[in-house]
Amino acid sequence: MHCEPIKSQFGARVTGLGPVIDLTEAEFLELRHAFELYSVLVLPDQPMDDNQQIAFSERFGPLERTISSNPAGGTAFARQSNIDIKTGQAIPPDDHRMMYQKANMLWHADSTFKATQSLCSILSAREVPEEGGATEFASTCSVYERLSKSEQAELGHLEVKHDIIYSRQIVGFEFTQKQREEMPPVRHPLVQTNPVTGRKSLLIGAHAKCIVGWPFEKGRALLDRLESMAIEPDNTFSHSWKTGDLIVWDNRSALHRATPYDTVKYRRLMQRTTVSLAVNS
Ligand SMILES: [Fe+2]
Repeated sequence: MHCEPIKSQFGARVTGLGPVIDLTEAEFLELRHAFELYSVLVLPDQPMDDNQQIAFSERFGPLERTISSNPAGGTAFARQSNIDIKTGQAIPPDDHRMMYQKANMLWHADSTFKATQSLCSILSAREVPEEGGATEFASTCSVYERLSKSEQAELGHLEVKHDIIYSRQIVGFEFTQKQREEMPPVRHPLVQTNPVTGRKSLLIGAHAKCIVGWPFEKGRALLDRLESMAIEPDNTFSHSWKTGDLIVWDNRSALHRATPYDTVKYRRLMQRTTVSLAVNS
């Protein structure tokens, strides 16, 4: 296995493994260790179908079921696509289902609004546009490491309230009462510690609404400052997808966002599986 770092201690392009769907246990453990070190692993030329993606993803831990606002809600997949799941036709740009894609363009970590956090997401490129549609990644480890010792200590005591109703309303999404009841706000420690490497990171991004026990605006100012540090260009990279690419990212230590593409001209189908932190912590 060859790991080529993308940024210093953040992101690595992994080659020389053969198909990840056939990894031995020893090979998988080597890949898993690289994931802990680099937060984002880019694996080119790893075509797979849905069943193979589920089998590979389950090696990281138990899979989440996707919430009902995703077109694939209720399954192990979060579908990122402009293609209607039932008809196979392109979804019109003004269709309410495309708002889900718009929400993905905010910097976020997946599932921070759930009571049980996510370990990682695994995104498989099945159909990609000829241009546009890149995914960008940012490290929150590097934010923590650039803070003063006193601020690191202060942040270590804080909890963040994460709320998908808050983050989705920003882009105009409306939720049914049932969906609101399914997804009440949750609290998570702001500072996360990787149990393997000991590196610390920050659980921030679009779903992070406020700091527990702080006045709302004071908490927003802190969260906005931390996010602006995370997305500085030196701290991010962009991945332009090719069909068959696979990316595994750590939802404890990396933010990501989608970028636009011409949804009328091109088809795009990305299948995401999301691994729960339930038995990994
Ligand atoms: Fe996401």
